Amino acid sequence: MADNPANSETLDNLLSENRTFPPSAELAANANVKQEAYARAEADPEAYWAEQANRLDWATPFTQVLDWSDAPHAKWFADGKLNVAVNCVDRHVDAGHGDQVAFHWEGEPGDSRSVTYAQLKDEVCKAANALVSLGLQTGDRVAIYLPMIPEAIVAMLACARLGLPHSVVFGGFSAEALRSRVADAEAKLVITADGQFRRGSALPLKAAVDEAVEASDSVQHVLVVRRTGIDVEWADNNLWWHELVDGQSTEHEAEAFDAEHPLFILYTSGTTGQPKGILHTSGGYLTQAAYTHHAVFDHQAGQDVYWCTADIGWVTGHTYIVYGPLANRATEVIYEGTPNSPHEGRHWEIIDKYQVSIYYTAPTTIRTFMKWGKDIPAKYSLASLRILGSVGEPINPEAWMWYRENIGHDNCPIVDTWWQTETGAIMISPLPGVTATKPGSAMQPIPGISAKVVNDEGVPVGKGQGGYLVIDKPWPSMLRTIWGDDARYVDTYWSRFAAQGYYFAGDGAKYDDDGAIWLLGRVDDVMNVSGHRISTTEVESALVSHPSVAEAAVVGASDATTGQGIVAFVILRGDAAQDAAEADASDRVTELRNHVAKEIGPIAKPRQIMVVAELPKTRSGKIMRRLLRDVAENRPVGDVTTLADSAVMEQISSGLSAGSED
Ligand code: PRX
Repeated sequence: MADNPANSETLDNLLSENRTFPPSAELAANANVKQEAYARAEADPEAYWAEQANRLDWATPFTQVLDWSDAPHAKWFADGKLNVAVNCVDRHVDAGHGDQVAFHWEGEPGDSRSVTYAQLKDEVCKAANALVSLGLQTGDRVAIYLPMIPEAIVAMLACARLGLPHSVVFGGFSAEALRSRVADAEAKLVITADGQFRRGSALPLKAAVDEAVEASDSVQHVLVVRRTGIDVEWADNNLWWHELVDGQSTEHEAEAFDAEHPLFILYTSGTTGQPKGILHTSGGYLTQAAYTHHAVFDHQAGQDVYWCTADIGWVTGHTYIVYGPLANRATEVIYEGTPNSPHEGRHWEIIDKYQVSIYYTAPTTIRTFMKWGKDIPAKYSLASLRILGSVGEPINPEAWMWYRENIGHDNCPIVDTWWQTETGAIMISPLPGVTATKPGSAMQPIPGISAKVVNDEGVPVGKGQGGYLVIDKPWPSMLRTIWGDDARYVDTYWSRFAAQGYYFAGDGAKYDDDGAIWLLGRVDDVMNVSGHRISTTEVESALVSHPSVAEAAVVGASDATTGQGIVAFVILRGDAAQDAAEADASDRVTELRNHVAKEIGPIAKPRQIMVVAELPKTRSGKIMRRLLRDVAENRPVGDVTTLADSAVMEQISSGLSAGSED
């Protein structure tokens, strides 16, 4: 971990951070979850989780809370049965809340639509009937590749209703990334749209699906929502959503499934090039999704208006746009576009328009707002806000304070929520009515969760010390396995501290002198770019798949806006190196950056590519990324004594032949 330069910077910040912000007396008195919950949960975690699970409607009540006999494979509420979609939609209508708005949807071009729970139920039932008409059966996988439009949520809930595990693929991923995910899950259906709006223009989306499913053995149909009206190619197995779904019956009898029935697969980056299909199941996942949304955001059904700005392509969108809030009968705001479309005040305008009271976003977005200037939010009231949240990466104290002052007007608690695709739901966070928050700290595990910071030997470190973040007790929304590769599941998450039986999250963390937890970033070869995990190996594989690249090494360098930026060092093949020397090397760099975008998606485009003659390696051939990070961050290069050829770093530092930034 000493290897990670992001850490020392965070540690410096820590030294000067001693401000605390307790909740207001009013919030403390009325909050959903109060101080007593910590002790109660610790005394009997299973009883505590059973209580949380009973916030849901079970078709068959469970009698056993946790079965950990086959660790690290957990079963939660295993003999209970429920339907996730019924819990998120039908039960609210049955309870008389059919006219309550489930979400106000705001399109990027300015169109908008408000959908009530009764309407959502009709839409989900129609979509479920449509999927049945295509011959899909319980357990079949459905890939969803859609922009942030109401149909995305309807599609996810229709899958949940039928027990079809969905695999949502972020609409910014490339055809190749989609292809590998569709193939890994052997999806039978892909649901997509003709195109998507981005910064005022209509961009194609279905074209990538056409490319991705071309040689697929599993895909039987492609269901297409018309969003932009742009021209699309059409194949025999393509169907328009409006033609297939709109005419279906709004009656659909939902079946109850086992609590451990798979709900979704979501792919995420790890330390190797192959993304991992994280598998989540139904009862435990929904329990923790709903509980955390209730506890951490202090959500009051029928009163709050809640907005999570994530995309449904990420786990935050799954848990805190779809499953958690809808299970809790939230009224949400869902926004299709980017924060600066058509102007940089768009989020604040939306907050005022819908009187949003809970707003949940990412540090990278907050830092972008800081760059645009506080004059922009100052033009809006923002008086409806009462709770602010942050997720995706460590939030630096400066951004935290800016958020508190300029968006929260000094009277909204900020919940900095630590969790992962694998954990399924929030694990470490302040509670808004309880915790005296510190700018930049996720503070402590929420009631019901147990986490520790340990040293190399797995022994908890003391106050003021740093180490590895582990979770030492199973939790309801934990991943159950990696789709199709259980050995990798055990190896990736449970082998580092096998003797202790700890889940290792891959993050470094530190206790401050009061015992509050500060997250310090990844300790493995995973970068965090704008709150999204990208593995160095994935980008390296994409680079070497280009015919001109012989070898590549990728590092994450700290970046003021995106947290980390991707910096690549490449060695070109003989001919290409010659060409590059003669011609303008920047063309080559542009080509390589575009190549990575094509292979993975624009999100993985290196910020900078440096063409080099050699890479620094140890005598055993291991690339010394630490030294490359020094170069990428413009620092003096560190200790080179273990290099096979100690002159290499001088060559790299002095002979950087090309770079690119935008
Ligand atoms: O490194 C941590 C960082 O994001 C990683 C999880 O990424 P992902 O699975 O894509 O899920 C992101 C949204 C839950 C973690 O291992 N991370 C997430 N939230 C925080 C964070 N780091 C510090 N503070 C956070 N609040």
